[in-house]
Amino acid sequence: MSDGGTGPRTDAGTIARAHRDPGFCRFHTDHVVVLEWSAGTGWAEPSLEPYGAFTMDPAASVLHYGQSIFEGLKVFRQPDGSAALFRVGDHARRMARSAWRLAMAEMPTELFQRACAELAVADDAWIPGGPGQSLYIRPLMVANESELGLRDSARYRCMFLAYPVEPCFGRDFAPISVTTPGDLVRAVRGGTGEAKCAGNYAASLRARKEAVARGFHEVLWLDGLERRWVEELSGMNVFFVWRDASGVRLTTPECRGTIVRGITRDCLLTLARDAGIPVSQEPTSIDALVDGATSGRLVEMFACGTAAVVVPVGRVATDGHDVTVGDGREGPVTARLRDALTGIQHGVRPDRHGWLRNVRNDLASVRTGTHR
Ligand code: COI
Repeated sequence: MSDGGTGPRTDAGTIARAHRDPGFCRFHTDHVVVLEWSAGTGWAEPSLEPYGAFTMDPAASVLHYGQSIFEGLKVFRQPDGSAALFRVGDHARRMARSAWRLAMAEMPTELFQRACAELAVADDAWIPGGPGQSLYIRPLMVANESELGLRDSARYRCMFLAYPVEPCFGRDFAPISVTTPGDLVRAVRGGTGEAKCAGNYAASLRARKEAVARGFHEVLWLDGLERRWVEELSGMNVFFVWRDASGVRLTTPECRGTIVRGITRDCLLTLARDAGIPVSQEPTSIDALVDGATSGRLVEMFACGTAAVVVPVGRVATDGHDVTVGDGREGPVTARLRDALTGIQHGVRPDRHGWLRNVRNDLASVRTGTHR
């Protein structure tokens, strides 16, 4: 690993000011970890470099054919002052699946994990410790061959960036409003909907822009064939809490190739089961959502993702309907699941599922080859 740690460092006062109000990715840290892949030699060693612009040939294939994938994962300051990566192996595996779908180079889990740990150690001063705060790591991989022929690239550049953050919809988790996107669709089965590729996010921006112009926070995507089944928001999975005579039940759409396999989604399914809440991955139609909200059977709805954490959805608008979910405010199941998750992340609840990895131990073990 080459060491860019000798580059300019931000002074402590500036970092402290960033930590007072980090927002979401408003401030980048001092470093970036770069890994290059080429068809002839495979992955090169990670290189820690000062954060900065880099040059790219206008013929670089990502600019023409869109081979671009990313991840988003977090490092949390722990009560003893150490720092821990959250489900880093799962993020690595998901990035490899995205790479496979876009015919890009798949990065081994150990290398991904090492890049994250190297960056977190180099930029340790940037890891905030306030309530709800974390360091967000954004691994990004782009095709970097200067070649206009349409084929998968022979060169990729992967960059790990980092930002001190708070949840992207704000630290108070105020309920958001969503609307369905008219005629636009995001994904169909067999497409790239499950991959964290730039194209999926680009495809969501038109509908999101229109939703925001109409006063909503986000788009609620429906399936691409029947435009009937609820799928996800532009960058978040979605959950429903239903109540009947036997109690409450949590549901979320299944992962069948059109939605991102959210790691926060998976945590919440696990934590709900731990809490004895019945959970089911099943389809929910937009009609059932509207009927449920109107009849009072649908008592809570929330969105989740690494960046957003867990945020209540208080209002849903769709063709001719505009409904309030529950009383429009955050419900107890939403709050309980978020507390369970953030408690583990911040090290104040036991990590029963082994989701946290101490950054320095991890780095030592990957460097000495004892990594599991
Ligand atoms: C994340 O939650 O980390 C994401 O990748 C969503 C992104 C659009 C902010």
